[in-house]
Amino acid sequence: MAKIPAGATDPVGGRGQDLNRPLVRSSHRTRMVEVRTRRKALTVSNFASQDQVEAVGADFRPDLLLNVRARTRAAVYDIAAQIVPGMTEPEARALAAAVLRDRGLRKGWHKILVRFGPNTTKNFEDPSDPGVILGANDIFFVDIGPIYQGCEGDAAVTFSTGDDPEMIKAVTDVRAIWDATRRRWLDDGLTGTALYEYAAATSEARGWKLDLELTGHRLSEFPHSAHFDGTLDGTDFRPTDLRWILEIQIRHPRRNFGAFHEDLLIEDDEVQSALPSGGD
Ligand SMILES: [Fe+2]
Repeated sequence: MAKIPAGATDPVGGRGQDLNRPLVRSSHRTRMVEVRTRRKALTVSNFASQDQVEAVGADFRPDLLLNVRARTRAAVYDIAAQIVPGMTEPEARALAAAVLRDRGLRKGWHKILVRFGPNTTKNFEDPSDPGVILGANDIFFVDIGPIYQGCEGDAAVTFSTGDDPEMIKAVTDVRAIWDATRRRWLDDGLTGTALYEYAAATSEARGWKLDLELTGHRLSEFPHSAHFDGTLDGTDFRPTDLRWILEIQIRHPRRNFGAFHEDLLIEDDEVQSALPSGGD
């Protein structure tokens, strides 16, 4: 997922809620930090305080964020369980929209993405190559960003069909790289920049290339872009709990497929309290 700067899209066709509200920013951390925005790529620096970058709105609720995370992840696994070989991406996206609708997740801050096979190497903004049909030995990911009760969710998980060993390894490794990177955040307090340096090295050690176009972003009450629309890898502080989506997209060095995993950076006890009913 990436960000949509103005006006969220509705996964079932309409527009997201416009929830621009006054921002409340604490002032206990005032040091200036260097951040790089996604739009301005990696060559332009802006300067803002960590408080600004990690701000939340007056009605931000951590318990709701965790609840929406659980709902979002459960929906991803529900969608994936119904995706079968022979399906096209448009069919899978329609299926995903129906599942989200049934689960009360009618609004979204980003479009529904279901990528099959060679399209798993695409970045968020890239259109899929048309006509791709899921094969019996294939790979796919589901990426959704619903809004529930004014709070954003965001989750992506990769799955395989059949028995292609490298695709199965991609599914396992992208999750392992995500978990290991989160562990460095938890245990060692790495900065956003250092987390992605670590993720790149870990991906390479496992035989993959890390895609540096998808390098994390804020999440909050909708819209997080009102607070900060840049990337996690451009921050030089330890990311605060319950503020950031860690994105890991890897690709095969020679074959035309990849894998994508994203989830909220949260403490261990919060993971346990927010387990979805399916998957994980
Ligand atoms: Fe996403």
